[in-house]
Amino acid sequence: MAEYEDKVLHELDGIKEYDNPMPGWLMAIWWGSLIFSAAYLIFYALSFGEGSMESEYRAEAQQALTEVQAHFDANPLVPPTPAELLAGAKDPAVLEKGAARFARTCASCHGEKAQGLIGPNLTDDRWIHGGSVGQIFQSVAKGWPAKGMPPWGRVVKPEELSALVSYVRSLQGSNPPSAKPAEGEPFAPEPIPGS
Ligand code: HEC
Repeated sequence: MAEYEDKVLHELDGIKEYDNPMPGWLMAIWWGSLIFSAAYLIFYALSFGEGSMESEYRAEAQQALTEVQAHFDANPLVPPTPAELLAGAKDPAVLEKGAARFARTCASCHGEKAQGLIGPNLTDDRWIHGGSVGQIFQSVAKGWPAKGMPPWGRVVKPEELSALVSYVRSLQGSNPPSAKPAEGEPFAPEPIPGS
Protein backbone atom coordinates (compact mmCIF):
# COMPACT_ATOMS: atom_id res chain seq x y z
CA MET A 1 0.00 0.00 0.00
CA ALA A 2 3.07 2.22 0.29
CA GLU A 3 2.77 3.54 -3.25
CA TYR A 4 -0.65 5.03 -2.34
CA GLU A 5 0.56 6.89 0.76
CA ASP A 6 0.79 10.17 -1.16
CA LYS A 7 -2.83 9.78 -2.24
CA VAL A 8 -4.31 9.67 1.28
CA LEU A 9 -7.27 12.06 1.44
CA HIS A 10 -8.17 11.67 5.14
CA GLU A 11 -7.19 9.57 8.03
CA LEU A 12 -9.47 8.94 11.01
CA ASP A 13 -8.67 6.54 13.84
CA GLY A 14 -6.11 4.85 11.63
CA ILE A 15 -8.57 4.29 8.78
CA LYS A 16 -7.23 5.88 5.60
CA GLU A 17 -9.22 6.93 2.60
CA TYR A 18 -7.22 6.96 -0.62
CA ASP A 19 -7.91 9.10 -3.65
CA ASN A 20 -8.43 6.08 -5.80
CA PRO A 21 -10.49 7.00 -8.92
CA MET A 22 -12.72 4.50 -10.73
CA PRO A 23 -10.98 2.92 -13.75
CA GLY A 24 -11.68 4.62 -17.08
CA TRP A 25 -13.64 1.70 -18.59
CA LEU A 26 -16.08 1.70 -15.64
CA MET A 27 -16.56 5.46 -15.94
CA ALA A 28 -17.21 5.01 -19.67
CA ILE A 29 -19.98 2.47 -18.95
CA TRP A 30 -21.46 4.80 -16.32
CA TRP A 31 -21.57 7.83 -18.62
CA GLY A 32 -22.68 5.70 -21.54
CA SER A 33 -25.67 4.28 -19.68
CA LEU A 34 -26.58 7.73 -18.35
CA ILE A 35 -26.65 9.20 -21.86
CA PHE A 36 -28.43 6.15 -23.28
CA SER A 37 -31.18 6.27 -20.66
CA ALA A 38 -31.77 9.99 -21.25
CA ALA A 39 -32.03 9.42 -25.00
CA TYR A 40 -34.27 6.39 -24.47
CA LEU A 41 -36.59 8.37 -22.22
CA ILE A 42 -36.91 11.17 -24.76
CA PHE A 43 -37.42 8.97 -27.83
CA TYR A 44 -39.53 6.12 -26.47
CA ALA A 45 -41.08 6.84 -23.10
CA LEU A 46 -42.12 10.37 -24.12
CA SER A 47 -43.09 9.19 -27.64
CA PHE A 48 -41.03 11.65 -29.69
CA GLY A 49 -38.93 9.84 -32.23
CA GLU A 50 -40.39 8.24 -35.37
CA GLY A 51 -40.34 4.58 -34.35
CA SER A 52 -42.05 4.73 -30.96
CA MET A 53 -43.81 1.43 -30.32
CA GLU A 54 -47.18 3.09 -29.82
CA SER A 55 -47.18 4.90 -33.16
CA GLU A 56 -45.93 1.74 -34.90
CA TYR A 57 -48.77 -0.21 -33.33
CA ARG A 58 -51.33 2.40 -34.38
CA ALA A 59 -50.03 2.44 -37.94
CA GLU A 60 -50.24 -1.35 -38.14
CA ALA A 61 -53.75 -1.50 -36.69
CA GLN A 62 -54.87 1.18 -39.15
CA GLN A 63 -53.25 -0.72 -42.01
CA ALA A 64 -55.07 -3.95 -41.04
CA LEU A 65 -58.40 -2.13 -40.89
CA THR A 66 -57.80 -0.51 -44.28
CA GLU A 67 -57.06 -3.93 -45.79
CA VAL A 68 -60.26 -5.47 -44.38
CA GLN A 69 -62.33 -2.55 -45.66
CA ALA A 70 -60.67 -2.66 -49.07
CA HIS A 71 -61.56 -6.35 -49.25
CA PHE A 72 -65.22 -5.66 -48.51
CA ASP A 73 -65.29 -2.66 -50.89
CA ALA A 74 -64.04 -4.93 -53.68
CA ASN A 75 -66.48 -7.71 -52.69
CA PRO A 76 -69.78 -6.04 -51.72
CA LEU A 77 -71.89 -8.09 -49.34
CA VAL A 78 -74.69 -9.92 -51.16
CA PRO A 79 -77.33 -10.96 -48.60
CA PRO A 80 -78.15 -14.67 -48.90
CA THR A 81 -81.78 -15.62 -49.59
CA PRO A 82 -84.05 -16.49 -46.63
CA ALA A 83 -84.27 -20.05 -48.04
CA GLU A 84 -80.46 -20.40 -47.82
CA LEU A 85 -80.39 -19.02 -44.26
CA LEU A 86 -83.22 -21.33 -43.14
CA ALA A 87 -81.64 -24.37 -44.80
CA GLY A 88 -78.45 -23.61 -42.83
CA ALA A 89 -80.43 -23.82 -39.58
CA LYS A 90 -80.52 -27.61 -39.92
CA ASP A 91 -77.12 -28.16 -41.55
CA PRO A 92 -74.67 -29.41 -38.87
CA ALA A 93 -71.60 -28.03 -40.67
CA VAL A 94 -73.18 -24.55 -40.92
CA LEU A 95 -74.37 -24.65 -37.30
CA GLU A 96 -70.93 -25.68 -36.06
CA LYS A 97 -69.35 -22.74 -37.88
CA GLY A 98 -72.03 -20.36 -36.58
CA ALA A 99 -71.71 -21.61 -33.00
CA ALA A 100 -67.91 -21.22 -33.06
CA ARG A 101 -68.11 -17.66 -34.36
CA PHE A 102 -70.92 -16.80 -31.94
CA ALA A 103 -68.82 -17.96 -28.97
CA ARG A 104 -65.88 -15.87 -30.19
CA THR A 105 -67.67 -12.68 -31.23
CA CYS A 106 -71.19 -12.44 -29.86
CA ALA A 107 -71.33 -14.28 -26.53
CA SER A 108 -69.61 -11.43 -24.67
CA CYS A 109 -72.71 -9.28 -25.18
CA HIS A 110 -75.54 -11.76 -25.87
CA GLY A 111 -74.43 -14.54 -23.47
CA GLU A 112 -72.93 -18.01 -24.07
CA LYS A 113 -76.34 -19.43 -24.95
CA ALA A 114 -77.67 -16.21 -26.55
CA GLN A 115 -79.81 -15.78 -23.43
CA GLY A 116 -79.10 -12.02 -23.36
CA LEU A 117 -76.64 -9.99 -21.31
CA ILE A 118 -75.75 -6.47 -22.50
CA GLY A 119 -77.52 -7.27 -25.77
CA PRO A 120 -81.01 -8.75 -25.98
CA ASN A 121 -82.00 -12.40 -25.63
CA LEU A 122 -81.83 -13.92 -29.15
CA THR A 123 -83.68 -17.15 -28.30
CA ASP A 124 -87.16 -15.81 -27.51
CA ASP A 125 -90.02 -14.94 -29.87
CA ARG A 126 -89.71 -11.15 -29.60
CA TRP A 127 -87.47 -8.92 -31.68
CA ILE A 128 -86.59 -5.24 -31.43
CA HIS A 129 -85.62 -5.04 -35.12
CA GLY A 130 -87.57 -7.91 -36.66
CA GLY A 131 -87.16 -11.67 -36.38
CA SER A 132 -87.19 -12.88 -40.00
CA VAL A 133 -83.85 -14.39 -41.03
CA GLY A 134 -83.52 -11.56 -43.58
CA GLN A 135 -83.99 -8.94 -40.84
CA ILE A 136 -81.63 -10.77 -38.46
CA PHE A 137 -79.02 -10.79 -41.25
CA GLN A 138 -79.40 -7.01 -41.61
CA SER A 139 -79.12 -6.52 -37.82
CA VAL A 140 -75.89 -8.55 -37.73
CA ALA A 141 -74.34 -7.13 -40.91
CA LYS A 142 -75.21 -3.44 -40.40
CA GLY A 143 -75.56 -3.41 -36.61
CA TRP A 144 -77.40 -0.81 -34.56
CA PRO A 145 -74.35 1.24 -33.64
CA ALA A 146 -76.30 3.96 -31.81
CA LYS A 147 -77.78 1.27 -29.53
CA GLY A 148 -74.51 -0.61 -28.89
CA MET A 149 -74.77 -3.36 -31.52
CA PRO A 150 -71.63 -3.18 -33.73
CA PRO A 151 -71.87 -3.72 -37.52
CA TRP A 152 -70.22 -7.04 -38.40
CA GLY A 153 -70.62 -6.97 -42.19
CA ARG A 154 -67.17 -5.49 -42.71
CA VAL A 155 -65.23 -7.69 -40.28
CA VAL A 156 -66.86 -11.12 -40.47
CA LYS A 157 -66.56 -13.19 -43.66
CA PRO A 158 -69.85 -13.50 -45.61
CA GLU A 159 -70.18 -17.28 -45.10
CA GLU A 160 -69.64 -16.79 -41.37
CA LEU A 161 -72.29 -14.05 -41.29
CA SER A 162 -74.81 -16.42 -42.89
CA ALA A 163 -73.78 -19.21 -40.51
CA LEU A 164 -74.34 -16.87 -37.55
CA VAL A 165 -77.87 -16.06 -38.71
CA SER A 166 -78.69 -19.74 -39.31
CA TYR A 167 -77.30 -20.53 -35.87
CA VAL A 168 -79.37 -17.78 -34.21
CA ARG A 169 -82.48 -19.09 -36.02
CA SER A 170 -81.73 -22.61 -34.73
CA LEU A 171 -81.73 -21.29 -31.15
CA GLN A 172 -85.35 -20.08 -31.38
CA GLY A 173 -87.31 -21.40 -28.41
CA SER A 174 -84.24 -23.06 -26.85
CA ASN A 175 -85.20 -21.54 -23.49
CA PRO A 176 -81.72 -21.17 -21.97
CA PRO A 177 -81.41 -20.76 -18.17
CA SER A 178 -81.36 -17.25 -16.65
CA ALA A 179 -82.64 -15.74 -19.88
CA LYS A 180 -83.07 -11.98 -20.15
CA PRO A 181 -86.76 -10.94 -20.40
CA ALA A 182 -88.02 -10.69 -23.98
CA GLU A 183 -87.91 -7.27 -25.65
CA GLY A 184 -89.62 -5.95 -28.78
CA GLU A 185 -92.45 -7.23 -30.97
CA PRO A 186 -93.57 -10.87 -31.19
CA PHE A 187 -92.58 -12.72 -34.36
CA ALA A 188 -93.48 -16.32 -35.19
CA PRO A 189 -90.25 -17.95 -36.43
CA GLU A 190 -90.21 -18.89 -40.12
CA PRO A 191 -90.36 -22.65 -40.59
CA ILE A 192 -87.11 -24.51 -41.28
CA PRO A 193 -87.83 -26.63 -44.37
CA GLY A 194 -87.85 -30.38 -43.76
CA SER A 195 -88.05 -30.23 -39.97
C1 HEC B 1 -70.74 -4.96 -27.87
C2 HEC B 1 -71.90 -5.78 -27.57
C3 HEC B 1 -72.49 -6.62 -28.68
C4 HEC B 1 -71.85 -7.57 -29.45
C5 HEC B 1 -70.39 -8.01 -29.39
C6 HEC B 1 -72.87 -8.13 -30.30
N1 HEC B 1 -74.07 -7.53 -30.07
FE1 HEC B 1 -75.81 -7.95 -30.99
N2 HEC B 1 -76.73 -6.45 -29.99
C7 HEC B 1 -76.15 -5.69 -28.98
C8 HEC B 1 -77.14 -4.75 -28.45
C9 HEC B 1 -76.91 -3.76 -27.32
C10 HEC B 1 -78.31 -4.95 -29.21
C11 HEC B 1 -79.65 -4.21 -29.05
C12 HEC B 1 -79.73 -3.06 -30.02
C13 HEC B 1 -81.01 -2.28 -29.82
O1 HEC B 1 -81.52 -2.23 -28.69
O2 HEC B 1 -81.46 -1.71 -30.82
C14 HEC B 1 -78.01 -6.03 -30.14
C15 HEC B 1 -78.93 -6.53 -31.06
C16 HEC B 1 -78.72 -7.64 -31.84
C17 HEC B 1 -79.71 -8.23 -32.72
C18 HEC B 1 -81.13 -7.71 -32.93
C19 HEC B 1 -82.00 -8.28 -31.84
C20 HEC B 1 -83.45 -7.85 -31.95
O3 HEC B 1 -84.17 -8.07 -30.97
O4 HEC B 1 -83.86 -7.34 -33.00
C21 HEC B 1 -79.17 -9.35 -33.28
C22 HEC B 1 -79.82 -10.31 -34.24
C23 HEC B 1 -77.81 -9.43 -32.77
N3 HEC B 1 -77.56 -8.38 -31.91
C24 HEC B 1 -76.92 -10.42 -33.12
C25 HEC B 1 -75.56 -10.39 -32.79
C26 HEC B 1 -74.59 -11.32 -33.32
C27 HEC B 1 -74.89 -12.49 -34.23
C28 HEC B 1 -73.38 -10.92 -32.82
C29 HEC B 1 -72.01 -11.52 -33.10
C30 HEC B 1 -71.56 -11.44 -34.46
C31 HEC B 1 -73.62 -9.78 -31.94
N4 HEC B 1 -74.93 -9.48 -31.97
C32 HEC B 1 -72.62 -9.13 -31.22
C33 HEC B 1 -74.85 -5.80 -28.53
C34 HEC B 1 -73.88 -6.60 -29.08
